[in-house]
Amino acid sequence: MGQFTKRYAPFLFGIAGLMSCLVDGNDAPSTDPPPPNREPLAGCAAACHGNDVSNAPPKSLSGVTETTAVGVGAHATHLSKASTWHAPILCADCHVVPSEVNSPGHMDGDGKAEVKFSIRAASTWNGTTCASECHGSTAVGGSAPTPTWTKVDGTQVTCGSCHGKPPPAPHPDDQDCAKCHPTMENGNTSFRDPLSHVNGVVDVDNSVGAGCSSCHGSATSSAPPKDLAGNTANTSPRVGAHAKHQGPSDWHREIACSSCHLVPITDAELRHRDGDNIAEVKFDTLNPAGVYTRTTLTCSNNYCHSNGRGNTGTVVWNVPGAKECTSCHPTSGTGMSGRHRLHIQGEDMTCNECHGAVINAQQKIIDAKLHINGVHEIKMANGTFDATARTCANTGCHGTERW
Ligand code: HEC
Ligand code: HEC
Ligand code: HEC
Ligand code: HEC
Ligand code: HEC
Ligand code: HEC
Ligand code: HEC
Repeated sequence: MGQFTKRYAPFLFGIAGLMSCLVDGNDAPSTDPPPPNREPLAGCAAACHGNDVSNAPPKSLSGVTETTAVGVGAHATHLSKASTWHAPILCADCHVVPSEVNSPGHMDGDGKAEVKFSIRAASTWNGTTCASECHGSTAVGGSAPTPTWTKVDGTQVTCGSCHGKPPPAPHPDDQDCAKCHPTMENGNTSFRDPLSHVNGVVDVDNSVGAGCSSCHGSATSSAPPKDLAGNTANTSPRVGAHAKHQGPSDWHREIACSSCHLVPITDAELRHRDGDNIAEVKFDTLNPAGVYTRTTLTCSNNYCHSNGRGNTGTVVWNVPGAKECTSCHPTSGTGMSGRHRLHIQGEDMTCNECHGAVINAQQKIIDAKLHINGVHEIKMANGTFDATARTCANTGCHGTERW
């Protein structure tokens, strides 16, 4: 949190900076904090560089707006206000920001801006490319770790440009980033917490790590039991079904803390212990409509329990008991999509005949990571299913039919 505050200080104190920029610089108190870097500042921007949304080029000092000019380059892509995938980037990350027009070093006569990295001090700029800590390295599997500043076509910020997906060994060879990195959403295509990505800290769910289980949890997990009051029984509301959800399973994908909570990386994180000793439950994208109601101890509108079409997705957190296949799936096929009922009841077909990647002829789950993962896997002995057109073709059972 400290680093966050430090990064934003220039922004928070920016209005004062703006005033100093607009008045005669010589009269401004020398202790003024630097001006903000991303607001449309009349005094700083319009006159020499920038535009009405940012002080940064475009336009450059020579009035150029093309990103192929070194004075313009990738300013706009770095400084776009809200990013869905990375922490904000400030002028101060790459320049010493002058507190006023006449600050020493600002207009030093060479007609060029000095690039000086602050937060990522080990980064370098050679006039064409950056070797920066933000853009990863080949050691972590990045394919474009030294991006060209004037090449603004998106090819240097694809997933894999800065680090592998995932990075090479010794990093675990596991595609399910969200399981270990609470920054990522379930499905691993979007960021649950963009502020924590490319912020200089590798966020790893260390919920089994030292220190996490001193207040809640056990030697094997920081999830209750024990809860904050020392309860261990799974009928206790604050312990509930934690243990049932934990760890590898032979029938469903692994469920991370981040499926149900925003996971703190350190105990000291502000959103972690907010003073009421009540855990915040926030489901990930697999359960966009999911709600936990503390008064009734129920999870409802839950995808996991189940848009397998067995019930309304409501389940009680602290009522233990095995969750049979039938608690989430109607074996008759009734209530499920398309022609389930027709095939199961009318043709005596079994689940594996269409879902062969997930389940075998003995009706045992054979690939747990594909089950309750948000994707409907179709694999038949013959033929294909087109999920968009919702049709089956070349099945050997019948011609092309709509599901
Ligand atoms: C990701 C790093 C980065 C960030 C963030 C950044 N700049 Fe720059 N800036 C550069 C680079 C690289 C150059 C080109 C330097 C050179 O010509 O050698 C540059 C050049 C400039 C120039 C000189 C333009 C010219 O015509 O030569 C100005 C003015 C400038 N930046 C202002 C800003 C302001 C204001 C912000 C914040 C709103 C900002 N920059 C944010 C990297 C950055
Ligand atoms: C089984 C757990 C696990 C999974 C799954 C996982 N990671 Fe990691 N990741 C780690 C650990 C542990 C580290 C090391 C943390 C450290 O060095 O402090 C790490 C570090 C990283 C780093 C930083 C590397 C460095 O040295 O700078 C990146 C980037 C990363 N992971 C990306 C990914 C991506 C992308 C995925 C999914 C495609 C992924 N990880 C999946 C556990 C995992
Ligand atoms: C501009 C470079 C860049 C791009 C593009 C990029 N990353 Fe990263 N990523 C980093 C850096 C640097 C780290 C090291 C930790 C940090 O600073 O947050 C990182 C860390 C991670 C981690 C470890 C957890 C964390 O946030 O620390 C994951 C997971 C991850 N990235 C996933 C992705 C995925 C998925 C994509 C594509 C959608 C992606 N990254 C694209 C630079 C990048
Ligand atoms: C399936 C959803 C789910 C998962 C996964 C999950 N939790 Fe929870 N967690 C809950 C619910 C529900 C509560 C109860 C909130 C309440 O009513 O107080 C809770 C409560 C807690 C509490 C507060 C206990 C107390 O004494 O009040 C802690 C601490 C906690 N969880 C940590 C974790 C950790 C750490 C993990 C991962 C190792 C985890 N949880 C995984 C749903 C989940
Ligand atoms: C000093 C005691 C203490 C330590 C150490 C601690 N926690 Fe917690 N944790 C709490 C309390 C208290 C809550 C209840 C949340 C509240 O008050 O809002 C909680 C809640 C949680 C929750 C539920 C989500 C939430 O924020 O409400 C998770 C997940 C969690 N902790 C994970 C961790 C992890 C991971 C670590 C180690 C990095 C850790 N805790 C270390 C006291 C602690
Ligand atoms: C004749 C082929 C066929 C059989 C037999 C079949 N399914 Fe399906 N299943 C499908 C198709 C096609 C979909 C739709 C995929 C999509 O939406 O992309 C589907 C989707 C599902 C879904 C997602 C929810 C829904 O209603 O679409 C679940 C859960 C499911 N099947 C479970 C089962 C189970 C359990 C069985 C055995 C009792 C079974 N299926 C038997 C073809 C079949
Ligand atoms: C907690 C609820 C739940 C339980 C219990 C459950 N399932 Fe599922 N199942 C789902 C959901 C949700 C889906 C939707 C597809 C997905 O996300 O994988 C699904 C999908 C399926 C599919 C379709 C293939 C797929 O994953 O796309 C089959 C077959 C299946 N389940 C069989 C079973 C069998 C056999 C059992 C008992 C061993 C079982 N299920 C227990 C929730 C459950």
